[in-house]
Amino acid sequence: MSDDKDNNDGTGDEPPKEERRRRRSGPVTKGGDKRAAKQFRTRVKTARGRKLSSTRWLDRQLNDPYVKKAQMEGYRSRAAYKLIELDERFKFLRKGQRVVDLGSAPGGWVQVALKKGASEVVGIDLLAIDPIEGATLFEKDFTDADAPDLVKSAMGGAADVVLSDLAPWTTGHKNTDHLRIVGLVEMAADFAYDVLKPGGTFVAKVFQGGTSGELLDQLKGRFEKCRHFKPDASRSESAETFLVATGFKG
Ligand SMILES: C[S@@+](CC[C@H](N)C(=O)[O-])C[C@H]1O[C@@H](n2cnc3c(N)ncnc32)[C@H](O)[C@@H]1O
Repeated sequence: MSDDKDNNDGTGDEPPKEERRRRRSGPVTKGGDKRAAKQFRTRVKTARGRKLSSTRWLDRQLNDPYVKKAQMEGYRSRAAYKLIELDERFKFLRKGQRVVDLGSAPGGWVQVALKKGASEVVGIDLLAIDPIEGATLFEKDFTDADAPDLVKSAMGGAADVVLSDLAPWTTGHKNTDHLRIVGLVEMAADFAYDVLKPGGTFVAKVFQGGTSGELLDQLKGRFEKCRHFKPDASRSESAETFLVATGFKG
């Protein structure tokens, strides 16, 4: 994943590079007391050396209802609410399932799957993920040749659900970004074909213009139903949407 630039995956969920560095050395700012936060938009004070992209990201984080909700409800990311909404709509998470989560950091989707009663969750991300009881989590690039086998080796059998929230850091170079996005979705789909049980579900983040017609045709042939859905928790300015493929045919 290249993050040479301050650009991110386009979902608006990821802090810019400068902010990630700043976070490692401690909290940056406080949002004021709760009553004030309810009444007034929290304003980000300018800090020496903070870039405009970081200030904008902080401003959005501090005023985002899903960020606040996630903090109150103990989810590690606002992304958790995207999976909650997807499941409310398509009802694919159930008790006792074996779930694989590609692109798991910081772990919001893993938490949701466990809360829904998954008996086994295996996750992988380029970034380290703090341990979550009940989940096996790998810090590794999923595009590494040995990554799919590593994930499979941690699974006790075929998966009921394969989730992919994989999103590459963008470079700003349109063609490169497009190829990366398409490449990750294709890898996730290939992995799903390999590990899913018949009847299983594949959920993947895709970007407008990021899923090739060819892949969609392939998915339609391998699953009973393929639908696109953009949860409310997905920022309207983000090009992301989610593909939900249910009823894997094997
Ligand atoms: C939107 S975040 C996932 C958020 C997560 N679903 C949650 O609820 O906390 C996308 C993740 O994809 C990961 N990612 C991107 N490219 C990857 C790759 N090649 N291998 C593994 N993880 C990757 C990023 O590191 C990032 O953590």
